[in-house]
Amino acid sequence: MGSRETWATRLGFILAAIGSAVGLGNVWRFPFITAESGGAAFLVVYLLLVAFIGLPVMLVEFVIGRESKQNVVDAFPAIGYGNWKAIGVIGSITGFIILSYYSVVGGWVIQYIFGSLTGAYTGSAEAYFGQVSSGLNTAGFDLLFILLVAGVVGFGVRDGLERAAKLLVPSVVGLMLFLAVYAATLPGAAEGYAYYLSPNLATLRSDALAILPAAAGQAFFTLSTGVGVMITYGSYLDEDRSLLRDGFVIMLADTCIAVLAGLIVFPVFFAQGIAPGDGGIGATFVSLAGAFTTLPGGRLVGTVFFVILLLAALTSAFSILEVIVSFIIDTTGIARSYATAGSVAGIFIVGLPTAFDLQYLTVYDAIANNVLLLLGGLLLALFGGWVYATDAITEFSKGLTSPQFIPKLWIWVLRVPVVVVLSYVLYQNILDVIQ
Ligand code: PHE
Ligand code: NA
Repeated sequence: MGSRETWATRLGFILAAIGSAVGLGNVWRFPFITAESGGAAFLVVYLLLVAFIGLPVMLVEFVIGRESKQNVVDAFPAIGYGNWKAIGVIGSITGFIILSYYSVVGGWVIQYIFGSLTGAYTGSAEAYFGQVSSGLNTAGFDLLFILLVAGVVGFGVRDGLERAAKLLVPSVVGLMLFLAVYAATLPGAAEGYAYYLSPNLATLRSDALAILPAAAGQAFFTLSTGVGVMITYGSYLDEDRSLLRDGFVIMLADTCIAVLAGLIVFPVFFAQGIAPGDGGIGATFVSLAGAFTTLPGGRLVGTVFFVILLLAALTSAFSILEVIVSFIIDTTGIARSYATAGSVAGIFIVGLPTAFDLQYLTVYDAIANNVLLLLGGLLLALFGGWVYATDAITEFSKGLTSPQFIPKLWIWVLRVPVVVVLSYVLYQNILDVIQ
């Protein structure tokens, strides 16, 4: 085994992790889940979960990765807890499933870029979605998306992941700011903001428990936690600087971009008099495309919007593939290019059903996101909080300048609130899936 790769710069690591976090989850999934789950009340619960449940688990991943300098599976024996390898195995399977349908949606996005440029969906947003979202063309664009991902991951940590993140993440942010300014000029802007940003305290009180499962799933998905992405990305760190600060920056960036996406999407919805509650996996595509065809400058705006979505989806997909590729390279010693080619072939095949029938996509998403991801998160919290706590505190404290109580607080948050909330949510979601 040759010497393990590392990030060239700290900034490169942070941008790659932000690139992983910022994806379809922010721009596509977040607005429609928010709309389905009651707007601003959901936003409040979601923000709390991101900060107090998602971030602590992300930090467990970073600590394991940086201490072990190994892939998701071998990380556990490397730090002395071989029995917990199952976390890495579950994470890899989860990543495999997520990437298999994430690329299908990525393929839709590529088609929507062409659709916006040519005006193909004008007057037929619904029909266009039907055509884009299942069939041979869907499988073809799915494959194209996967090949783009493989093309970057095949180049490795510095030349692939890090370089792409430095280029793509700032582009996404810049383009989104541009669209948010545009959205502010629309006639529905004020109404959209009001729906999105003013929580109704009564609903919040009565629905908080009902909102919890969807909000928790989204919190994990959006931060890329529970799969082992952050273990893998943390394993390429060779300097001991504050993980808390990095984790905080990544969380903040992801949250700001999700909120920014809402500031674009909700005014666009309201400008068209579309009720944002008609959620569903395709709703964002149908409603937005419908809106773009009638808005001033709609074709250009639509193109920009879907380009943003594509760039954001790519940097997330890189990170999932990297989890799998890094595991294969470490265990078999084969070259990165072969490991990449082999994994994407498998991922493409597993995802095929979701390219032909939207119902499979919904099922894959529910299993991965509402069950496996949260199971991974729960196991990480139990492991980090109860088993690995002493070593975790030592590793976490390297480079940390903040007060001494912070590491202890982190462990106690993992031990009780994170474990309780995740157990409850997982139980609810499993009931849901079984029914
Ligand atoms: N965080 C990504 C998004 O919001 C999705 C993702 C989930 C990426 C899990 C990696 C691992 O789109
Ligand atoms: Na995200």
